[in-house]
Amino acid sequence: MENLQAKANKGTVLVTGGAGYIGSHTCVALLKQGYDIVVVDNFVNSSPVSLERVTKITDKTFPWYRVDLRNREQLSEIFAKHHIDWVIHFAALKAVGESVAQPLRYYENNLNATLSLLAVMDAHDCHKIVFSSSATVYGNPERLPLTEDCRLHTTNPYGTTKLMIEDILRDLCAADKQWTAVILRYFNPVGAHPSGLIGENPQGIPNNLTPYIAQVLTGKLPFLQVFGDDYDTSDGTGVRDYIHVCDLADGHLQAIAKIKTAGAHVYNLGTGHGYSVLEVLHAFERAAGREIPYQIKPRRAGDVAACYADPSRAEHDLGWHAQYSLDDMARDLWRFYTQNPHGYEEK
Ligand SMILES: NC(=O)c1ccc[n+]([C@@H]2O[C@H](COP(=O)([O-])OP(=O)(O)OC[C@H]3O[C@@H](n4cnc5c(N)ncnc54)[C@H](O)[C@@H]3O)[C@@H](O)[C@H]2O)c1
Repeated sequence: MENLQAKANKGTVLVTGGAGYIGSHTCVALLKQGYDIVVVDNFVNSSPVSLERVTKITDKTFPWYRVDLRNREQLSEIFAKHHIDWVIHFAALKAVGESVAQPLRYYENNLNATLSLLAVMDAHDCHKIVFSSSATVYGNPERLPLTEDCRLHTTNPYGTTKLMIEDILRDLCAADKQWTAVILRYFNPVGAHPSGLIGENPQGIPNNLTPYIAQVLTGKLPFLQVFGDDYDTSDGTGVRDYIHVCDLADGHLQAIAKIKTAGAHVYNLGTGHGYSVLEVLHAFERAAGREIPYQIKPRRAGDVAACYADPSRAEHDLGWHAQYSLDDMARDLWRFYTQNPHGYEEK
Protein backbone atom coordinates (compact mmCIF):
# COMPACT_ATOMS: atom_id res chain seq x y z
CA MET A 1 0.00 0.00 0.00
CA GLU A 2 2.78 2.43 0.98
CA ASN A 3 4.59 1.52 -2.16
CA LEU A 4 1.55 2.26 -4.28
CA GLN A 5 1.15 5.67 -2.65
CA ALA A 6 4.78 6.57 -3.19
CA LYS A 7 4.34 5.66 -6.83
CA ALA A 8 1.17 7.72 -7.16
CA ASN A 9 2.92 10.85 -5.88
CA LYS A 10 5.66 11.19 -8.44
CA GLY A 11 3.97 14.16 -10.09
CA THR A 12 2.31 15.02 -13.37
CA VAL A 13 4.15 15.39 -16.66
CA LEU A 14 2.56 17.13 -19.64
CA VAL A 15 3.83 15.45 -22.81
CA THR A 16 3.56 17.54 -25.98
CA GLY A 17 3.63 15.41 -29.13
CA GLY A 18 2.91 12.42 -26.88
CA ALA A 19 1.17 10.47 -29.65
CA GLY A 20 4.31 10.57 -31.80
CA TYR A 21 7.07 8.01 -32.10
CA ILE A 22 9.36 8.99 -29.21
CA GLY A 23 6.53 10.61 -27.24
CA SER A 24 4.41 7.46 -27.07
CA HIS A 25 7.36 5.37 -25.82
CA THR A 26 8.10 8.01 -23.18
CA CYS A 27 4.43 8.00 -22.11
CA VAL A 28 4.71 4.24 -21.51
CA ALA A 29 7.90 4.69 -19.47
CA LEU A 30 6.38 7.53 -17.40
CA LEU A 31 3.20 5.58 -16.62
CA LYS A 32 5.20 2.47 -15.74
CA GLN A 33 7.33 4.50 -13.34
CA GLY A 34 4.24 5.88 -11.59
CA TYR A 35 4.00 9.38 -13.08
CA ASP A 36 0.66 10.84 -14.09
CA ILE A 37 0.63 12.18 -17.63
CA VAL A 38 -1.39 14.60 -19.73
CA VAL A 39 -0.86 14.45 -23.50
CA VAL A 40 -1.29 17.33 -25.95
CA ASP A 41 -1.01 16.60 -29.68
CA ASN A 42 -2.62 17.94 -32.85
CA PHE A 43 -1.97 14.60 -34.62
CA VAL A 44 -0.40 16.30 -37.63
CA ASN A 45 2.05 13.38 -37.79
CA SER A 46 0.47 10.77 -35.53
CA SER A 47 -2.73 8.98 -34.61
CA PRO A 48 -4.76 8.76 -31.38
CA VAL A 49 -4.50 4.97 -31.84
CA SER A 50 -0.96 5.17 -30.45
CA LEU A 51 -2.42 6.57 -27.21
CA GLU A 52 -4.91 3.69 -27.02
CA ARG A 53 -1.93 1.37 -27.41
CA VAL A 54 -0.09 3.15 -24.58
CA THR A 55 -3.09 2.32 -22.37
CA LYS A 56 -3.07 -1.27 -23.61
CA ILE A 57 0.61 -1.69 -22.68
CA THR A 58 0.41 0.00 -19.28
CA ASP A 59 -3.20 -0.73 -18.33
CA LYS A 60 -3.49 2.96 -17.39
CA THR A 61 -5.75 5.65 -18.77
CA PHE A 62 -4.78 9.32 -18.92
CA PRO A 63 -6.21 12.57 -20.27
CA TRP A 64 -5.22 13.62 -23.78
CA TYR A 65 -6.19 16.65 -25.85
CA ARG A 66 -6.31 17.24 -29.59
CA VAL A 67 -4.85 20.72 -29.35
CA ASP A 68 -2.31 22.63 -31.41
CA LEU A 69 0.30 24.13 -29.10
CA ARG A 70 0.06 27.39 -31.00
CA ASN A 71 -3.48 27.81 -29.67
CA ARG A 72 -2.63 29.53 -26.38
CA GLU A 73 -6.21 29.72 -25.18
CA GLN A 74 -6.82 25.99 -25.42
CA LEU A 75 -3.39 25.20 -24.00
CA SER A 76 -4.06 27.52 -21.09
CA GLU A 77 -7.29 25.67 -20.31
CA ILE A 78 -5.33 22.44 -20.01
CA PHE A 79 -2.84 24.01 -17.59
CA ALA A 80 -5.76 25.45 -15.60
CA LYS A 81 -7.33 22.02 -15.34
CA HIS A 82 -4.21 20.01 -14.39
CA HIS A 83 -1.38 20.83 -12.03
CA ILE A 84 1.71 20.18 -14.16
CA ASP A 85 5.14 19.57 -12.58
CA TRP A 86 7.21 18.99 -15.71
CA VAL A 87 6.67 19.40 -19.44
CA ILE A 88 8.39 17.12 -21.95
CA HIS A 89 8.25 18.94 -25.26
CA PHE A 90 8.38 16.57 -28.24
CA ALA A 91 5.89 18.35 -30.51
CA ALA A 92 7.55 19.50 -33.71
CA LEU A 93 7.74 18.87 -37.42
CA LYS A 94 10.86 16.77 -38.01
CA ALA A 95 11.48 15.87 -41.67
CA VAL A 96 14.76 17.43 -42.81
CA GLY A 97 13.99 17.34 -46.55
CA GLU A 98 10.53 18.78 -46.04
CA SER A 99 12.01 21.60 -43.96
CA VAL A 100 14.26 22.55 -46.88
CA ALA A 101 11.24 22.65 -49.21
CA GLN A 102 8.90 24.35 -46.71
CA PRO A 103 11.05 26.44 -44.37
CA LEU A 104 8.31 28.83 -43.28
CA ARG A 105 6.04 25.99 -42.22
CA TYR A 106 8.86 24.57 -40.09
CA TYR A 107 9.84 27.87 -38.49
CA GLU A 108 6.19 28.77 -37.95
CA ASN A 109 5.24 25.48 -36.33
CA ASN A 110 8.32 24.62 -34.29
CA LEU A 111 9.10 28.11 -33.01
CA ASN A 112 5.57 29.37 -32.42
CA ALA A 113 4.51 26.13 -30.73
CA THR A 114 7.45 26.46 -28.34
CA LEU A 115 6.96 30.18 -27.66
CA SER A 116 3.28 29.60 -26.98
CA LEU A 117 4.08 26.68 -24.66
CA LEU A 118 6.68 28.66 -22.68
CA ALA A 119 4.31 31.62 -22.25
CA VAL A 120 1.48 29.41 -21.03
CA MET A 121 3.81 27.49 -18.69
CA ASP A 122 5.03 30.77 -17.20
CA ALA A 123 1.48 32.05 -16.74
CA HIS A 124 0.65 28.87 -14.81
CA ASP A 125 3.82 28.90 -12.73
CA CYS A 126 5.29 25.79 -14.35
CA HIS A 127 8.99 26.29 -15.08
CA LYS A 128 10.47 22.85 -15.76
CA ILE A 129 10.85 21.62 -19.32
CA VAL A 130 12.67 18.83 -21.13
CA PHE A 131 13.24 19.68 -24.78
CA SER A 132 13.79 17.28 -27.71
CA SER A 133 16.83 18.56 -29.51
CA SER A 134 18.90 16.64 -32.01
CA ALA A 135 22.45 15.76 -32.99
CA THR A 136 21.66 17.78 -36.10
CA VAL A 137 22.67 20.92 -34.13
CA TYR A 138 26.30 19.76 -34.48
CA GLY A 139 26.05 20.12 -38.29
CA ASN A 140 29.24 18.69 -39.77
CA PRO A 141 30.90 17.23 -36.67
CA GLU A 142 33.87 19.28 -35.48
CA ARG A 143 35.36 16.14 -33.94
CA LEU A 144 34.28 12.63 -32.93
CA PRO A 145 32.87 11.50 -30.64
CA LEU A 146 30.65 14.56 -30.26
CA THR A 147 30.64 16.17 -26.83
CA GLU A 148 28.07 18.73 -25.73
CA ASP A 149 30.57 21.57 -26.04
CA CYS A 150 31.32 20.90 -29.73
CA ARG A 151 30.68 23.74 -32.16
CA LEU A 152 26.97 24.21 -33.00
CA HIS A 153 25.82 25.03 -36.48
CA THR A 154 23.07 23.77 -38.72
CA THR A 155 22.69 22.71 -42.33
CA ASN A 156 18.89 22.79 -42.82
CA PRO A 157 15.84 24.71 -41.52
CA TYR A 158 14.69 21.84 -39.27
CA GLY A 159 18.06 21.84 -37.51
CA THR A 160 17.95 25.61 -37.25
CA THR A 161 14.59 25.46 -35.45
CA LYS A 162 16.19 23.07 -32.91
CA LEU A 163 19.19 25.31 -32.36
CA MET A 164 17.01 28.43 -32.12
CA ILE A 165 14.83 26.77 -29.48
CA GLU A 166 17.93 25.68 -27.55
CA ASP A 167 19.06 29.34 -27.60
CA ILE A 168 15.63 30.54 -26.48
CA LEU A 169 15.78 28.14 -23.53
CA ARG A 170 19.33 29.20 -22.61
CA ASP A 171 18.33 32.89 -22.75
CA LEU A 172 15.22 32.22 -20.69
CA CYS A 173 17.16 30.34 -17.99
CA ALA A 174 19.76 33.13 -17.87
CA ALA A 175 17.08 35.80 -17.48
CA ASP A 176 14.77 34.06 -15.03
CA LYS A 177 16.24 31.78 -12.38
CA GLN A 178 12.94 29.97 -11.85
CA TRP A 179 13.41 28.02 -15.07
CA THR A 180 14.92 24.56 -15.50
CA ALA A 181 15.46 23.41 -19.08
CA VAL A 182 16.93 20.02 -19.93
CA ILE A 183 18.01 19.93 -23.56
CA LEU A 184 18.40 16.38 -24.84
CA ARG A 185 20.24 15.95 -28.12
CA TYR A 186 19.05 12.66 -29.60
CA PHE A 187 21.19 10.71 -32.00
CA ASN A 188 19.29 8.28 -34.29
CA PRO A 189 16.27 6.72 -32.59
CA VAL A 190 15.41 3.25 -33.88
CA GLY A 191 13.31 0.29 -32.83
CA ALA A 192 9.96 0.02 -31.15
CA HIS A 193 8.43 -1.10 -27.88
CA PRO A 194 9.09 -4.85 -27.36
CA SER A 195 5.30 -5.45 -27.21
CA GLY A 196 5.10 -4.60 -30.93
CA LEU A 197 2.14 -2.32 -30.16
CA ILE A 198 3.79 1.08 -30.67
CA GLY A 199 6.48 2.21 -33.06
CA GLU A 200 7.14 4.72 -35.79
CA ASN A 201 4.01 5.03 -37.93
CA PRO A 202 5.26 4.62 -41.48
CA GLN A 203 3.93 7.34 -43.77
CA GLY A 204 5.03 7.73 -47.39
CA ILE A 205 8.66 7.25 -48.40
CA PRO A 206 10.69 7.42 -45.21
CA ASN A 207 13.62 9.78 -44.66
CA ASN A 208 15.55 7.57 -42.30
CA LEU A 209 17.47 4.37 -42.89
CA THR A 210 15.60 1.89 -40.70
CA PRO A 211 12.01 2.64 -41.77
CA TYR A 212 13.33 2.46 -45.33
CA ILE A 213 14.85 -0.98 -44.69
CA ALA A 214 11.58 -2.12 -43.14
CA GLN A 215 9.67 -0.99 -46.23
CA VAL A 216 12.03 -2.99 -48.45
CA LEU A 217 11.44 -6.01 -46.23
CA THR A 218 7.67 -5.61 -46.46
CA GLY A 219 7.88 -5.31 -50.24
CA LYS A 220 6.70 -1.69 -50.37
CA LEU A 221 10.04 -0.62 -51.83
CA PRO A 222 12.11 -2.80 -54.18
CA PHE A 223 15.61 -2.26 -52.72
CA LEU A 224 17.60 -0.14 -50.31
CA GLN A 225 19.62 2.71 -51.77
CA VAL A 226 22.97 3.00 -50.00
CA PHE A 227 24.34 6.47 -50.57
CA GLY A 228 28.11 6.17 -50.82
CA ASP A 229 30.45 3.23 -50.16
CA ASP A 230 33.70 5.18 -50.36
CA TYR A 231 33.66 6.97 -47.03
CA ASP A 232 36.58 6.62 -44.64
CA THR A 233 34.72 4.07 -42.46
CA SER A 234 35.10 0.33 -41.76
CA ASP A 235 33.16 -0.77 -44.86
CA GLY A 236 32.95 2.56 -46.72
CA THR A 237 29.29 3.25 -45.88
CA GLY A 238 28.11 6.05 -43.57
CA VAL A 239 28.28 5.51 -39.81
CA ARG A 240 25.66 6.77 -37.34
CA ASP A 241 24.87 6.36 -33.65
CA TYR A 242 21.58 4.43 -33.51
CA ILE A 243 19.77 4.29 -30.20
CA HIS A 244 16.78 2.17 -29.18
CA VAL A 245 13.72 4.36 -28.67
CA CYS A 246 13.08 2.75 -25.25
CA ASP A 247 16.58 3.76 -24.10
CA LEU A 248 15.84 7.27 -25.32
CA ALA A 249 12.54 7.32 -23.41
CA ASP A 250 14.37 6.28 -20.23
CA GLY A 251 16.78 9.20 -20.67
CA HIS A 252 13.83 11.58 -20.18
CA LEU A 253 12.80 9.86 -16.96
CA GLN A 254 16.33 10.04 -15.63
CA ALA A 255 16.47 13.74 -16.49
CA ILE A 256 13.29 14.46 -14.55
CA ALA A 257 14.41 12.37 -11.60
CA LYS A 258 17.98 13.67 -11.38
CA ILE A 259 17.98 17.35 -12.37
CA LYS A 260 17.36 19.37 -9.25
CA THR A 261 18.99 22.68 -10.12
CA ALA A 262 17.59 25.51 -12.19
CA GLY A 263 19.25 26.61 -15.44
CA ALA A 264 19.87 25.02 -18.81
CA HIS A 265 21.38 21.51 -18.88
CA VAL A 266 22.45 19.83 -22.13
CA TYR A 267 22.95 16.10 -22.72
CA ASN A 268 23.72 13.87 -25.66
CA LEU A 269 21.54 10.78 -25.76
CA GLY A 270 23.32 8.23 -27.93
CA THR A 271 25.02 4.88 -27.41
CA GLY A 272 28.48 6.18 -28.20
CA HIS A 273 28.87 3.49 -30.88
CA GLY A 274 28.64 4.08 -34.60
CA TYR A 275 27.16 1.47 -36.93
CA SER A 276 27.58 1.52 -40.69
CA VAL A 277 24.66 1.30 -43.12
CA LEU A 278 25.69 -2.25 -44.02
CA GLU A 279 25.94 -3.30 -40.36
CA VAL A 280 22.40 -2.03 -39.82
CA LEU A 281 21.23 -3.81 -42.95
CA HIS A 282 22.75 -7.10 -41.75
CA ALA A 283 21.09 -6.71 -38.33
CA PHE A 284 17.73 -6.43 -40.09
CA GLU A 285 18.55 -9.45 -42.23
CA ARG A 286 19.13 -11.41 -39.02
CA ALA A 287 15.88 -10.09 -37.51
CA ALA A 288 13.76 -10.91 -40.57
CA GLY A 289 15.62 -14.08 -41.56
CA ARG A 290 16.16 -13.06 -45.18
CA GLU A 291 18.38 -11.02 -47.44
CA ILE A 292 17.72 -7.37 -48.15
CA PRO A 293 18.43 -6.22 -51.71
CA TYR A 294 20.44 -2.99 -51.94
CA GLN A 295 22.15 -0.82 -54.53
CA ILE A 296 25.10 1.48 -54.02
CA LYS A 297 24.37 5.05 -55.13
CA PRO A 298 26.58 8.14 -55.15
CA ARG A 299 27.07 10.04 -51.89
CA ARG A 300 24.26 12.45 -51.02
CA ALA A 301 25.16 16.12 -50.79
CA GLY A 302 25.51 17.21 -47.18
CA ASP A 303 25.97 13.71 -45.70
CA VAL A 304 28.95 13.22 -43.39
CA ALA A 305 31.02 10.03 -43.13
CA ALA A 306 30.39 9.42 -39.44
CA CYS A 307 28.51 10.88 -36.50
CA TYR A 308 28.37 9.46 -32.98
CA ALA A 309 27.99 10.72 -29.46
CA ASP A 310 30.09 10.89 -26.39
CA PRO A 311 27.28 10.10 -23.93
CA SER A 312 29.47 10.27 -20.79
CA ARG A 313 27.91 13.46 -19.43
CA ALA A 314 24.47 11.79 -19.33
CA GLU A 315 26.05 8.74 -17.69
CA HIS A 316 27.75 10.90 -15.07
CA ASP A 317 24.93 13.33 -14.22
CA LEU A 318 21.81 11.31 -14.99
CA GLY A 319 23.07 7.79 -14.29
CA TRP A 320 21.84 6.87 -17.77
CA HIS A 321 23.33 4.80 -20.52
CA ALA A 322 21.85 2.88 -23.42
CA GLN A 323 21.16 -0.80 -22.75
CA TYR A 324 19.78 -2.18 -26.02
CA SER A 325 21.95 -3.55 -28.85
CA LEU A 326 21.63 -3.02 -32.59
CA ASP A 327 20.08 -6.51 -32.89
CA ASP A 328 17.46 -5.51 -30.27
CA MET A 329 16.63 -2.40 -32.30
CA ALA A 330 16.23 -4.40 -35.52
CA ARG A 331 14.20 -7.17 -33.85
CA ASP A 332 11.79 -4.75 -32.15
CA LEU A 333 11.29 -2.55 -35.20
CA TRP A 334 10.70 -5.61 -37.35
CA ARG A 335 8.17 -6.96 -34.85
CA PHE A 336 6.25 -3.66 -34.97
CA TYR A 337 6.20 -3.71 -38.76
CA THR A 338 5.04 -7.31 -39.00
CA GLN A 339 2.31 -6.77 -36.39
CA ASN A 340 1.21 -3.43 -37.94
CA PRO A 341 1.79 -3.66 -41.70
CA HIS A 342 -0.39 -0.58 -42.25
CA GLY A 343 0.89 1.31 -39.24
CA TYR A 344 -1.93 2.50 -37.00
CA GLU A 345 -4.42 2.60 -39.86
CA GLU A 346 -6.66 -0.41 -40.26
CA LYS A 347 -6.80 -1.63 -43.81
N1 LIG B 1 12.84 10.71 -34.69
C1 LIG B 1 14.05 11.26 -34.84
O1 LIG B 1 14.86 10.77 -35.62
C2 LIG B 1 14.46 12.47 -34.00
C3 LIG B 1 15.81 12.77 -33.84
C4 LIG B 1 16.18 13.89 -33.09
C5 LIG B 1 15.19 14.69 -32.53
N2 LIG B 1 13.88 14.38 -32.71
C6 LIG B 1 12.86 15.26 -32.12
O2 LIG B 1 12.11 14.52 -31.18
C7 LIG B 1 10.76 14.98 -31.16
C8 LIG B 1 9.82 13.82 -31.37
O3 LIG B 1 10.15 13.19 -32.60
P1 LIG B 1 9.32 11.95 -33.14
O4 LIG B 1 10.24 11.15 -33.97
O5 LIG B 1 8.56 11.30 -32.04
O6 LIG B 1 8.31 12.72 -34.13
P2 LIG B 1 6.77 12.49 -34.39
O7 LIG B 1 6.41 13.27 -35.61
O8 LIG B 1 6.42 11.06 -34.36
O9 LIG B 1 6.13 13.20 -33.11
C9 LIG B 1 5.94 14.59 -33.01
C10 LIG B 1 4.51 14.82 -32.55
O10 LIG B 1 4.29 16.23 -32.42
C11 LIG B 1 2.97 16.52 -32.92
N3 LIG B 1 2.95 17.96 -33.28
C12 LIG B 1 3.70 18.60 -34.22
N4 LIG B 1 3.40 19.92 -34.22
C13 LIG B 1 2.47 20.13 -33.26
C14 LIG B 1 1.78 21.28 -32.77
N5 LIG B 1 1.95 22.49 -33.31
N6 LIG B 1 0.88 21.12 -31.77
C15 LIG B 1 0.66 19.89 -31.21
N7 LIG B 1 1.29 18.77 -31.63
C16 LIG B 1 2.18 18.89 -32.65
C17 LIG B 1 2.80 15.54 -34.07
O11 LIG B 1 1.44 15.30 -34.37
C18 LIG B 1 3.48 14.29 -33.52
O12 LIG B 1 2.58 13.45 -32.82
C19 LIG B 1 10.66 16.05 -32.24
O13 LIG B 1 10.82 17.31 -31.62
C20 LIG B 1 11.84 15.76 -33.13
O14 LIG B 1 12.29 16.93 -33.78
C21 LIG B 1 13.49 13.29 -33.42
